[in-house]
Amino acid sequence: MVKIKIDGLEYDVNEKKNLIDAAKDVGVDIPYFCYHPALTVVGMCRMCLIEIEGVPKLQAACNTPVKEGLSIITQSDRVKEGRAGTMEFLLANHPLDCPVCDKAGECRLQDNAFGSGSGKSRFEFEKRNIPQEEIGTNLIINHNRCIVCYRCVRFEEEKVGESNLGLFERGYHSIIGLAKNEPINHNYQGALADICPVGALLNHETLFKSRVWWYKTHDSVCHGCSTGCNVHANVRDNKMYRYMVKENFDQEMFFLCDKGRFDLDWMNENRLLSYFENGQESVSNDVFSKLGREWNDANSIAILGGAHETNESLSTIKSLFNSQDKIIWEARVSDPQYKETEQVDFLLTKDYHPNTRGAVDIGITTSTGVNGIIKDFNSKKIDLLFIIKEEIPEGIDSSRMNNVVMMDTNLSNKISKVGYAVPIQIFAEQGGSFTNKNGLKQEFEKGMKPVQGLLSSSEFFQKILDHAKLAKEALVHGNN
Ligand code: SF4
Ligand code: SF4
Ligand code: FES
Repeated sequence: MVKIKIDGLEYDVNEKKNLIDAAKDVGVDIPYFCYHPALTVVGMCRMCLIEIEGVPKLQAACNTPVKEGLSIITQSDRVKEGRAGTMEFLLANHPLDCPVCDKAGECRLQDNAFGSGSGKSRFEFEKRNIPQEEIGTNLIINHNRCIVCYRCVRFEEEKVGESNLGLFERGYHSIIGLAKNEPINHNYQGALADICPVGALLNHETLFKSRVWWYKTHDSVCHGCSTGCNVHANVRDNKMYRYMVKENFDQEMFFLCDKGRFDLDWMNENRLLSYFENGQESVSNDVFSKLGREWNDANSIAILGGAHETNESLSTIKSLFNSQDKIIWEARVSDPQYKETEQVDFLLTKDYHPNTRGAVDIGITTSTGVNGIIKDFNSKKIDLLFIIKEEIPEGIDSSRMNNVVMMDTNLSNKISKVGYAVPIQIFAEQGGSFTNKNGLKQEFEKGMKPVQGLLSSSEFFQKILDHAKLAKEALVHGNN
């Protein structure tokens, strides 16, 4: 930490941070566009102008090193005039699109126009009008809204590692365009729209779906892989609409990949909400009574999966089984879960489970692994097999499917293959925590309300144990 002065007051700030973020930490907002904490500083937009004591001209804050004794002014008339000039320049060609722009409500241009603009325009000429273009499989550019901050170009080069975008022509004619003759087709098209500070880059996937102020926002963790990126989960009418990145400076998490960001429909549609027996819809009480009896009759029970469940659910289930020595439980069902982390790209890992590490830390592993369990199940050493939100593993003897209980969140053709299919809540309906690939336990909030009566996986097992107890008692009373 170093001591710097901002507007005459002394603060202790983190010298490792950019001046814009260091000032934000102590409650001083410096407006900006082109600066991004995870990209190189280019000082292109001139929005972050400040005065530095001893320096005659206004300076860009993003380009000013934080060092002991630095004294800056962020609120003088000179600074305000400089920023208002930048805003006037940027708005000269920007269309008045806010009523139809997806970025409205979370647009830096709107915020900075309110905070630092003059409130009126002197621009009397016709604004430039360039047709919108599709530049990716899920990416559109509205050139008229672009303020040429170069964030998208830097992101492509510095994070994705591909020079897909470039700045062409000069001055009034400047335009961001494809640097190659093919559309962008990578896993970070959502991140491009996210980091664009205005509504120039947009995703088809979310276009015109909702105004941003209609969302309820919850702090959450992406479910898509073992990286565990932090997200703001946007929920409307109890439906998961959107994930936006929640920047985490400590963990250097500033982006989301498309695989996680856009994999939301399964939370809203095609949900498994009924109980099934042999592919036919049943009622929960019948299923629980039968499962209670089968639980008692079984000499050995196996559970596969659980790495989509919260740490809290897993711990509760584990403690429920404390007095039962006939249960084996393996949370790892796929190869990447058994190995050291393998990255697909700079964020996404090959393990598409958010909580493998949490399950392993809780001790939900076996020495034989998933293959050993399948072998023992096929040879009838295991009587009953529960699968928690996973595919039916390859190699299971089809004649033993009647003894499989599938706990799942969505309808699928698996239902007709197994003895029982039962619905469970998704993680966003519970809240709790996941532990990511590095062993970092991250909590998330409950964002959606489960339909009435829908159980979590731990409540489901509790209910089976209750029914197993009832069945045992009934047997004792019956014999008496
Ligand atoms: S498209 Fe967006 S991110 Fe790219 S330069 Fe224009 S305003 Fe910046
Ligand atoms: S890298 Fe993994 S955790 Fe991060 S957004 Fe993608 S799928 Fe989600
Ligand atoms: S944020 Fe400093 S010049 Fe753009």
